[in-house]
Amino acid sequence: MNVSIAEALRQASRALDQAGVADARREAGSLLSHVMRRDRTFLISHAEDQLDEDEWKLFENAVARRAAGEPTQYITSVQDFFGRNFRVTPDVLIPRPETELLVEAALELMNPNAVVCDVGAGSGCIAVTLLCERNDARAVAIDISEAALEVTRQNAHELLVERRIELVRSDCFDELKPETSQFDLIVSNPPYVSANMLAGLQREVRDYEPLVALSPGEDGLSVIRRLLTEAPQFIQANGHLLFEIGFDQAEAVKELVNPDIWTLSKILPDLQGIPRIVVLQKH
Ligand SMILES: C[S@@+](CC[C@H](N)C(=O)[O-])C[C@H]1O[C@@H](n2cnc3c(N)ncnc32)[C@H](O)[C@@H]1O
Repeated sequence: MNVSIAEALRQASRALDQAGVADARREAGSLLSHVMRRDRTFLISHAEDQLDEDEWKLFENAVARRAAGEPTQYITSVQDFFGRNFRVTPDVLIPRPETELLVEAALELMNPNAVVCDVGAGSGCIAVTLLCERNDARAVAIDISEAALEVTRQNAHELLVERRIELVRSDCFDELKPETSQFDLIVSNPPYVSANMLAGLQREVRDYEPLVALSPGEDGLSVIRRLLTEAPQFIQANGHLLFEIGFDQAEAVKELVNPDIWTLSKILPDLQGIPRIVVLQKH
């Protein structure tokens, strides 16, 4: 079958559009770039080049997966985060742009030789980015999922920070001891979707991203409660705890903050103005 790049993109855009995929043309371009291992500029400047048979089959398969609802990032296995490529698999959440705000806030608080703990590391996008940005820092990355920690490990290896990160499979802080683990900064993008919100999530999220990464059940606040009550034993005096919250959780989280332990420095808004990143300092 002889199909040009331009024609392949036309057919794929139509199929994705009919399947209800938003931004079908851009998604088709991402999938074809992935299959051909070429960037978008190449696709535009070589629009009349023909796909070979293998490329066409791979592309058809990728488009069918995307049309069925699978996120592009699980098909291409990659997501950009803070300007770096992170490997992603269906075992980890696809890193989100709002989490880059958490990284920016954390970087402002990191002193030289900072020791950081990332609770719920997933792809490792937070901990690995912090280590890439601060080459004197070290990190402990915790996740309850062994499969997720393997993805953290691969990203730490690819981005050359493997020697400065320790991976710990743990339910929150259960496997750490305060005598041996003290941090300047604890960061987390915890699972926070409440049980009754799950059904209303986009199909790409609900049907494909790991449930353990999305929701701790019930009101969505159980891991956040644990961060607020358990993290103090692991943070140095005047150290910080930063975590991401759901779009409607700011008021509930303020109620959970114990003023005898924490100063609530701020809750930073995301790009839509929604309160997203809670910044606390331990007394
Ligand atoms: C929302 S994802 C965040 C992943 C990554 N940090 C990011 O920002 O893209 C939450 C992560 O927390 C992990 N997790 C869920 N419950 C946990 C628990 N009780 N203790 C440790 N990790 C947990 C999940 O496996 C998942 O990788």
